[in-house]
Amino acid sequence: MIILGIETTCDETGAAVVERTEDGRGRILSNVVLSQISEHAEFGGVVPEIAARAHVEALDAIIAGAMREANVSYPALDGVAVAAGPGLIGGLIVGLTTAKAIALVHQKPLIAVNHLEAHALTARLTDMTPFPYLLFLASGGHTQILGVLGVSNYLRLGGTVDDAIGEAFDKTAKLLGLGYPGGPLVEKEATHGDPKRFALPRPMAGRHDANFSLSGLKTALRLEAEKIAPLSDQDVADLCASFQQAVSDVVMDRLRTGLRMFRDRVGMPTAIVCAGGVAANQAIRKVLHRVAFELGISLVAPPPALCTDNGAMIAWAGAERLALGLIDSLDAVPRPRWPLDQKAGPGIPPIAQTGR
Ligand code: KG4
Ligand code: ZN
Repeated sequence: MIILGIETTCDETGAAVVERTEDGRGRILSNVVLSQISEHAEFGGVVPEIAARAHVEALDAIIAGAMREANVSYPALDGVAVAAGPGLIGGLIVGLTTAKAIALVHQKPLIAVNHLEAHALTARLTDMTPFPYLLFLASGGHTQILGVLGVSNYLRLGGTVDDAIGEAFDKTAKLLGLGYPGGPLVEKEATHGDPKRFALPRPMAGRHDANFSLSGLKTALRLEAEKIAPLSDQDVADLCASFQQAVSDVVMDRLRTGLRMFRDRVGMPTAIVCAGGVAANQAIRKVLHRVAFELGISLVAPPPALCTDNGAMIAWAGAERLALGLIDSLDAVPRPRWPLDQKAGPGIPPIAQTGR
């Protein structure tokens, strides 16, 4: 089957065409992503209104580009998948409305995909990773440890009670005047800093759930910075290194706890899978390798372009759902908040069940 996927939940406008064969293999025919980073950079974070307008302006051309590159005509599609949440409401409306229009005009099934489910299933597109596996998702908007037990079957083991990990990196960078997005800049500074110079807290370490809390760490860093201001270049590097070390330690502790919960409830995972922009961080990547190694399982890290937001992951999740007959009606609603801990079902019951 061939699926068009549309992604507009945050600050990337994405469209892709993905093929899924009978035996469950995936092939990306096109994957076009337009990042809005430059439009948000001066504000140090994503501005929802700017994001929504940018999606409106870009989406039609991005979809046309993806269809052209894939060399696929609309009648040849088997379905139209769109990220219907969670995310910023303006972008969700743009993506969902566009997807509905295409589905209606060309009489194709609509698949309203949970964006987190799409991140969770990407490892099956890239590596055919068998269920069940543990997902560590860390981006600017999300921090989750999930048991991925099957399509539409997830166990939420941990999340953040305040900032997402990427957001904490971004705020740290902003505080230190490094720019946006902050993660790569903090990582670069950290390479020539002393990770032991500042004694920052390891929030939530040792707790029995696998949750994260990062706002206290951010505050502790700010207080340390204020104590020694004005900051020299070495001070900034040392603060970045100490921050990155603290986050890495927290990730290690929380992942080990998440894995313990997974094994108690489900059994042995086939792999640890990572997703989200933060997974590009080498110190954090090292932690993921180490935790997987301890358990004798592999770490599956899809290529960076598929770890960050993109249309291919939405198309693939749509294909996996369509293969199971999970489709949505044209009155599916955008869902700014849409946790994955229950079934990642559709926004409204599918047509087949309601008779509509
Ligand atoms: O998945 P992503 O590209 O977009 C969304 O958040 O949806 O993730 C972006 C986030 C930003 O917060 C960015 O600072 C962070 O991922 N990030 C990193 C690194 N590269 C990107 N954080 C730490 N280290 C990095 N190397
Ligand atoms: Zn995402």
